[in-house]
Amino acid sequence: MNNDASQKNSSRRDFVKQTSLLAGGLAAAPFLAKANYFSGADDTIKIALVGCGGRGTGAATQALSTSQNVKLVAMCDAFRDNLDNCYKSLTTDDADTGKPSAIKNRVDVPESRKFTGFDGYKKAIALADVVILATPPGFRPIHFEEAISQNKHVFMEKPVATDPAGIQKVLASAAIAKQKKLNVVVGLQRHYQNSYRELFKRKDMIGDITSMQAWWNNDGVWVRPRKEGQTEMEYQMRNWYYFVWLCGDHITEQHIHNLDVINWFKGGYPVKAQGMGGRQVRKGKENGEIFDHHYVEFQYADGSLLNSQCRHIPGTMSKVDELFIGTKGKIHCGAANITDPSGNVIYQFDKKNEPNPYQTEHDELFAAIAKGEYKFADAENGAKSSMTSILGRMATYSGQVVEWDKAINSGLDLHPKSYDWAAATPIVPNTDGYYPIAVPGVTKYA
Ligand SMILES: NC(=O)c1ccc[n+]([C@@H]2O[C@H](COP(=O)([O-])OP(=O)(O)OC[C@H]3O[C@@H](n4cnc5c(N)ncnc54)[C@H](O)[C@@H]3O)[C@@H](O)[C@H]2O)c1
Repeated sequence: MNNDASQKNSSRRDFVKQTSLLAGGLAAAPFLAKANYFSGADDTIKIALVGCGGRGTGAATQALSTSQNVKLVAMCDAFRDNLDNCYKSLTTDDADTGKPSAIKNRVDVPESRKFTGFDGYKKAIALADVVILATPPGFRPIHFEEAISQNKHVFMEKPVATDPAGIQKVLASAAIAKQKKLNVVVGLQRHYQNSYRELFKRKDMIGDITSMQAWWNNDGVWVRPRKEGQTEMEYQMRNWYYFVWLCGDHITEQHIHNLDVINWFKGGYPVKAQGMGGRQVRKGKENGEIFDHHYVEFQYADGSLLNSQCRHIPGTMSKVDELFIGTKGKIHCGAANITDPSGNVIYQFDKKNEPNPYQTEHDELFAAIAKGEYKFADAENGAKSSMTSILGRMATYSGQVVEWDKAINSGLDLHPKSYDWAAATPIVPNTDGYYPIAVPGVTKYA
């Protein structure tokens, strides 16, 4: 184990390297407890961004807005145009968004540290101390595995996988990250949002939670139309939201936020699910294979039920929220309050005390890393909440009761055999350009 004197002389590089060597946590804690380990001109925390789209750009902005000594040193995107747009956004002062010019000064990504294609992530990860993973979720398991094997701290977006095989991979990497004491934050930002944290602290005010409801109902998201000359792989990668291997369907891609809150407050994960869903409105060629609505009844170990609904249909009721019903009252997450059985508000969170949780998750992660602290191990929960959403999808696609244990151990792997622009995609359109859609009662869940 290092003593104080040798710690002072250790470089940040040594810290990163030794953190990984001290697997099992045997000697890591005292070493990591060294305060301000990354402070000083030579102790810049180097960041690599993998996935330079909307959220990657946002997450990089937030990481570079923390009060730590941080620098973006490498970027990777499957597509060069997306990388360029992101780089431009990070290095251009934007009066509209009020992005401070300080961010620009923290971007140090010359041409030699910009990577593209399917394998670029390995090179970008190698150059950093902390990796931001913000591609479509289908790639998260292999990117997370690589980051942990290269001994990096990680911020990764939700969901963390789209199929049970990916979930198992993330769980395995999460266990290794714990042994290596690598901080991992997952972008389930309600865990970093004050209203949710305060409600969670007071959840016993409603007694035992006997049932739950969760909603992600809104108009839906973008479509990226097919362009001439694209291979099928490129088209699916561009229009990724509509392909289950890449996105997981919207129950996984968005509704995970609400399902995760339910799991968090409930202190566990569902044991089984059954539900219904389909595509009523969003059914063009460009809408790939995903449903536009799902309604799932999840059952938890104590028998309590979660009724979950998610819908992407314009012109219908919009609602993104969670509700807990207990023996002594209710928790209304959106309203950020708790009511008694008569409906009287017995706790109200003041939303004036609500900093941007997207910023908070980076502030807290980078503060811990700068201090040499091991504080965040979000990957296991991220994987199990992702699995909750996948369980729901398996239930709605099949129309069957699907048990958690069978689903997570099903081995269902939706991914292509190889990643290449000319490679075969896991799903292909018919001669009219339409993709096969799951049919409840016919489709097998695995
Ligand atoms: N926490 C939140 O509230 C929140 C909000 C928005 C998005 N997200 C998540 O962030 C992730 C990205 O979403 P987005 O909205 O930024 O999508 P996006 O399409 O804007 O960006 C994804 C980027 O990843 C790139 N990419 C795809 N495959 C890649 C690969 N194999 N290697 C490198 N780059 C690759 C794409 O080219 C694209 O630039 C999703 O998982 C999404 O669920 C989270």
